[in-house]
Amino acid sequence: MISREIHLVKRPKAAPDASHFKLVETEVPDTLEADQVLVKNLWMSVDPYMRPRMNDVKSYIPPYQVGEVLEGGAIGLVIASKNDKLPIGTYVESMNGWREYFVSGRRGLGIRDTSHVAPQDYLGIMGMPGITAYVGTTVLGAAKAGDTVYVSGAAGAVGSLVCQIAKALGCTVMGSAGSDEKVDWLLNSAHIDGAFNYRNEANQSAAIAQVCPKGIDLFFDNVGGSQLDAALMNMRKNGRVILCGSIEDYNAPSKDRQGVKNLFRAIAMGLSIKGFIIFDYMADHQKAFVEDMARWRGEGKIQNQETILNGIERAPEAFLGLFSGANLGKMLVKLADE
Ligand SMILES: NC(=O)c1ccc[n+]([C@@H]2O[C@H](COP(=O)([O-])OP(=O)(O)OC[C@H]3O[C@@H](n4cnc5c(N)ncnc54)[C@H](OP(=O)(O)O)[C@@H]3O)[C@@H](O)[C@H]2O)c1
Repeated sequence: MISREIHLVKRPKAAPDASHFKLVETEVPDTLEADQVLVKNLWMSVDPYMRPRMNDVKSYIPPYQVGEVLEGGAIGLVIASKNDKLPIGTYVESMNGWREYFVSGRRGLGIRDTSHVAPQDYLGIMGMPGITAYVGTTVLGAAKAGDTVYVSGAAGAVGSLVCQIAKALGCTVMGSAGSDEKVDWLLNSAHIDGAFNYRNEANQSAAIAQVCPKGIDLFFDNVGGSQLDAALMNMRKNGRVILCGSIEDYNAPSKDRQGVKNLFRAIAMGLSIKGFIIFDYMADHQKAFVEDMARWRGEGKIQNQETILNGIERAPEAFLGLFSGANLGKMLVKLADE
């Protein structure tokens, strides 16, 4: 059978565009070997971390290879099986995104229960972005009632959940995002306390001071660069800065990166600055994350927001949209009906 998949054509030197991707048809074996399954992908995730993986640089995860299929989170359905543990109809999560079908053994496939959550939730609110928001806010950020929390990239997959988790914990929550529609969603759907469109502000530090006049206790940073710099000028004494992402820098060659100019504020204000990669914390915090998130959702304290594009041919567009701010909440590609 034929499966369509997306290959990396060349490595971007700055911002990627459609020319870096190619839709390729490939043959998936018709006959399975012992223990193998055939999976039809239903949903795939596009995530900012995929951009650094397009560079030929060693990191916590290996780079993508030119001329090969990309990879990333996906949820699929087993449609043929020679594995007793993975009968037809099993939902499986894998890193075999960016393709419609694949054959696999048991290794690399996580069985997912979809009786209470939608399959695609495992790529967003109940998956990697969700636990990133949870651990960064509750464990590393130690958010507590009464804190003023400020979130950059506040209307994205991680940011939208950070905002709502902090609200559920009794914090006063402020955020910035890149469109008036996102600001409206933050104020009227996520019900945070203040928000602004950073694209309308010439002076980011002054804009933060406007929404956080008494300063910030906890800054959750998804953007880095100029927005990190601006927030550093608004931290309260002994404030905490959680470095989750630095998307402003992902497309910039290292010589063109903005750089942080206000780090001296960390000394004067006694700040704690903590970066993290969620994979180092998943095992320890998965159980509490699932319980707390399910409870908050049940209580109506957390809304799940998604932006969905349809079809494998739109996967590059979905990915590129992360860098132009095309998504409100989690960006997903729907590959097939169940
Ligand atoms: N540490 C970890 O383990 C971990 C795990 C997951 C994600 N992350 C990081 O967390 C951040 C958010 O990830 P996500 O999956 O939730 O993505 P996302 O926020 O859903 O999507 C990316 C968003 O970033 C904003 N953006 C893009 N380019 C920008 C720029 N140059 N300046 C300012 N904002 C820009 C856009 O929103 P606007 O319209 O608001 O500009 C866009 O919608 C990323 O930096 C990601 O790498 C880290």
